[in-house]
Amino acid sequence: MRRNRRDAWNRRLVAENRLSADDLIWPVFVVEGQNQRQPVPSMPDVERLSIDRLGDAVGEAKDLGIPAVAVFPYVDAALKSSDCLEAVNPENLVCRAVRAVKAAHPDIGILCDVALDPFNSDGHDGLVRDGLVVNDETVEVLCRQALVQAEAGCDVAAPSDMMDGRVGAIRSALDDAGHQHVRIMSYAAKYATAFYGPFREAVGSAGALKGDKKTYQMDTANSDEALREVALDIDEGADMVMVKPGLPCLDIVRRVKDTFGVPTFAYNVSGEYAMLKAASAQGWLEYDKVMMEALLAFKRAGADGVLTYAAVEAARLLKET
Ligand code: PBG
Repeated sequence: MRRNRRDAWNRRLVAENRLSADDLIWPVFVVEGQNQRQPVPSMPDVERLSIDRLGDAVGEAKDLGIPAVAVFPYVDAALKSSDCLEAVNPENLVCRAVRAVKAAHPDIGILCDVALDPFNSDGHDGLVRDGLVVNDETVEVLCRQALVQAEAGCDVAAPSDMMDGRVGAIRSALDDAGHQHVRIMSYAAKYATAFYGPFREAVGSAGALKGDKKTYQMDTANSDEALREVALDIDEGADMVMVKPGLPCLDIVRRVKDTFGVPTFAYNVSGEYAMLKAASAQGWLEYDKVMMEALLAFKRAGADGVLTYAAVEAARLLKET
């Protein structure tokens, strides 16, 4: 076995998987104001950018060959409410950011999360009634949210809320409004994990959230259930499916890809990013190496692409080599 490992040229020749910038989706955080670059303490080297700064950042990603970005808003607490009306405001921060990015860079793809948590004073992805996250009422608001995002120029609606039936409902709503071309990447198998912690700091939803998301996000004990979730979303019209979190769920990525053969993505989430950054800051890990190794592992597990906060770092390294 070692003969084929002897030389770098030979290792390159027999490599089964390869990471390219084409595989990356870069999640970005946007904040109100002018000339803002706010560091996110639990996510070293990640910043919330104001809209005027976002264009340049996205431009760099595009120039590095990254096909798409995902826009996440840090919403002022004063705009959060229990009816989440700001989520359906065509002038909200996400919609303005999407319009600005589209205008500056028409040929990079833009994903938007469809979920209520950034706008919800209750911190949940759905509407809370009598202490419960209600499904069907939430789906109605999600449809309206997807529509304002599509009208702003969003290319891919990415429902991340884990309500039942939302993919089919969003698909119909988009089609009825003339947005047949807007794709749906569903967070199909999304687990209730503690690895999302830093993200909730980044979007400012951590303080609002009471309790956990276990009544709608999946139990981390389950794997067959992920296949049922994915099957439903494909049936309802999802164009691409996602598994989340990423590294703790490489087994799920592989099962989904093998079972359905559809475009399959993994979300290398905030906690996974923070782990590598934190250990590297201590000098315990070599960041560039562990990060690239982790991203390649997604490809080996069968993912077509990865949402990762390290997308720009990875694309820069890929360009150098
Ligand atoms: C919100 C959402 C979350 C993430 C993406 N969209 C967090 C959550 O469900 O609580 C997590 C991303 C990350 O941790 O990097 N619907």
